[in-house]
Amino acid sequence: MNAELAATTGSKSAPNRPLHSGMARFITLEGGEGAGKSTLAVGLKQRLAECGIGCLVTREPGGSPKAEVIRETLLGGEIAPFGPFAEALMFYAARIDHVDRTIKPALTRGEWVICDRFADSTRAYQGALGRLDPALLAALERVALAGFAADLTLILDVPVDVGLARAAVRRGTGASDRFEREGRGFHTRLRRAYLDIAEREPARCVVVDASLLPSAVLDLAWSAVEARLLQHADAAGSLS
Ligand SMILES: Nc1ncnc2c1ncn2[C@@H]1O[C@H](COP(=O)(O)OP(=O)(O)OP(=O)(O)O)[C@@H](O)[C@H]1O
Ligand SMILES: [Mg+2]
Repeated sequence: MNAELAATTGSKSAPNRPLHSGMARFITLEGGEGAGKSTLAVGLKQRLAECGIGCLVTREPGGSPKAEVIRETLLGGEIAPFGPFAEALMFYAARIDHVDRTIKPALTRGEWVICDRFADSTRAYQGALGRLDPALLAALERVALAGFAADLTLILDVPVDVGLARAAVRRGTGASDRFEREGRGFHTRLRRAYLDIAEREPARCVVVDASLLPSAVLDLAWSAVEARLLQHADAAGSLS
């Protein structure tokens, strides 16, 4: 959560305020197709609820009524012919609305937010498509988000073939989307791109071995939440 939002929600502990008010955290889940992000979101929400923490689960592209409209055109492949930069701009048009209409209001209410994909997806996917300067993507992110970022990003890492096989099972007889249709080389670059992000930003990112059973993936992810967010909040005296 950025300084501006922390200031408006009041991160100092106040007597008799609802549990976690002002300490709401923003968690993003990242990784390639079928890595298990949506499955993990459900499990994390349940664990947080067991701790008495209210949590909104949302996803990208989409997550607000206007952004959901943009999602359809992006995943349907209608924007792809305009080129990767136009595609990145459309992802950001959706993201700005999602942040303003859904994510920030929830954090301000004191709810934690788990977002299934966020800015790292644009970096990794548009980067893996290979025709955009990473500096251009970084500039776009800086301008659009103005420093707003996840408190914790869990990067679900799984071998490409495992992820694609899982995504195919989840899809069933439905049509594959614009990115699932990309070749194996794309998905290999995508995996590498996520691992590079984690290496560059270890304070924000934790890589989770997502090839394990769902219960083990949830345990690993929850350990990161406890270590990075809950213990930190305990130490600050904000949860007692
Ligand atoms: N750890 C796991 N082991 C085996 N199967 C899993 C695991 N996690 C999720 N699955 C299954 O794999 C499929 C894809 O999982 P899920 O939808 O959570 O992935 P995702 O990362 O959200 O995929 P997408 O990027 O396509 O939205 C689902 O059928 C889910 O039940
Ligand atoms: Mg999903």
